[in-house]
Amino acid sequence: MYKYPNKITTTNMKIKNIHAREILDSNGYPTISTEIEVWSGEKGKAEVPSGASTGKTEVVEMRDQDPARYKGRGVLNAVETINTKLKDLLVDKEFTSQREFDQMLIDADGTEFKEKLGGNTILSCSMAFARAVTNAFGLELYEYLAMTYWDKEYDNKNFKLPTPQILVMEGAKHGNWATDIQEYMLVPNMETFETFSEALRASTEVFHSIHEILDSKQYSVGLGLEGGYAPKELTSNEEAFEIILEAIKKAGFEINTHFTLALDLASSEFFNEEKGVYHLKRGDKILSREEIINLQEEWISKYPISSIEDPLNEDDWEGWSLYTQKLGKKIMVVGDDLITTNTKRIKKALENKSINSVLVKLNQIGTVSETLDAIRTTVENNLKAVVSHRSGETNDDFIADLVVATPAQYCKFGAPSRGERIVKYNRLLDIEQRLGL
Ligand code: PGA
Ligand code: ZN
Repeated sequence: MYKYPNKITTTNMKIKNIHAREILDSNGYPTISTEIEVWSGEKGKAEVPSGASTGKTEVVEMRDQDPARYKGRGVLNAVETINTKLKDLLVDKEFTSQREFDQMLIDADGTEFKEKLGGNTILSCSMAFARAVTNAFGLELYEYLAMTYWDKEYDNKNFKLPTPQILVMEGAKHGNWATDIQEYMLVPNMETFETFSEALRASTEVFHSIHEILDSKQYSVGLGLEGGYAPKELTSNEEAFEIILEAIKKAGFEINTHFTLALDLASSEFFNEEKGVYHLKRGDKILSREEIINLQEEWISKYPISSIEDPLNEDDWEGWSLYTQKLGKKIMVVGDDLITTNTKRIKKALENKSINSVLVKLNQIGTVSETLDAIRTTVENNLKAVVSHRSGETNDDFIADLVVATPAQYCKFGAPSRGERIVKYNRLLDIEQRLGL
């Protein structure tokens, strides 16, 4: 176990108090804010996110199911669980690592999908503990997470800023079905841009160019859940590609030299389980597995696409293997709903060669330690890791530190707009300066 530096006293990891509250996420739905105080007096607070197009095998969120409040989405029971049951369990307990703390909550829950205490409940405590201990040791969060991840191999020269996948247009469940594709993202070429801040600047300039183009077409400039443009006036899924490519040129950049594109199809959202077909609403087509693979192959040949997330339904392991065999050499095939940040599922995907990249979301698995495990399994097997936000976010910037602390190569934090997305990009700018990168 790595010896956390300076001020090592037993009081830095001993819980003095814990308190949770119900707050709102970026969609105006309740979520949990938890604060932990350790015996040395420092505190740490965490606010957990929540997804809209969730995978079936994510850990279960504890929600009140009381229709009289927030359509059943209140979290008062989860808050009460923390302020009573978990408080009794944790106060005065002394830990020597993040893993020990997380394991106590995992054991207290005892179910595979954290149904008893709730994944949201457990995660808020896990993240708050990480922050409290970070503060108690006088560290930055990325330093504490890196020490936890690397253990004895910790080296403060290992820090690296990620390549961002920056959202610019969105549809499907996140964007009022303006398109069938849930997310259209820019991937800055880091060989050209060299620094994260330059990549962010250029991407944001393209985002502004899209605004101008939409304005000139008299299309709506309203934003979707993750801050990307979601104009209902679009006539096809392809028109969004054309607008983005035009915006890249308009902003003074070149395709490939400066940017490629990444997509999140979130295809389980338009998969018809009964009929086993994909129903493209904007494309007005019903497609078989083979046809939707062919359509994506056509997009890849026509547009500069370097990454596609959730190209097929989350239950279709066989299809994912076929897909990766066919296209995995050309693009990143990113498993989100298929994998749900679950190490067991990453191992299954490795056996079946179903993916070459993994999306990483803390709240799909429910503790910091298990998230670090998922990243480790991903990178040690030469897959790419993409640390991701959720559509329902908070102003917590934990994931910015997480991606820097670990060998995850990519981040996906939404558009350069809306405070809950910007706060994560701004934290990366802050870290870039601190590290002198
Ligand atoms: P979600 O979407 O947070 O609504 O699940 C994000 C994604 O699909 O990547
Ligand atoms: Zn996704």
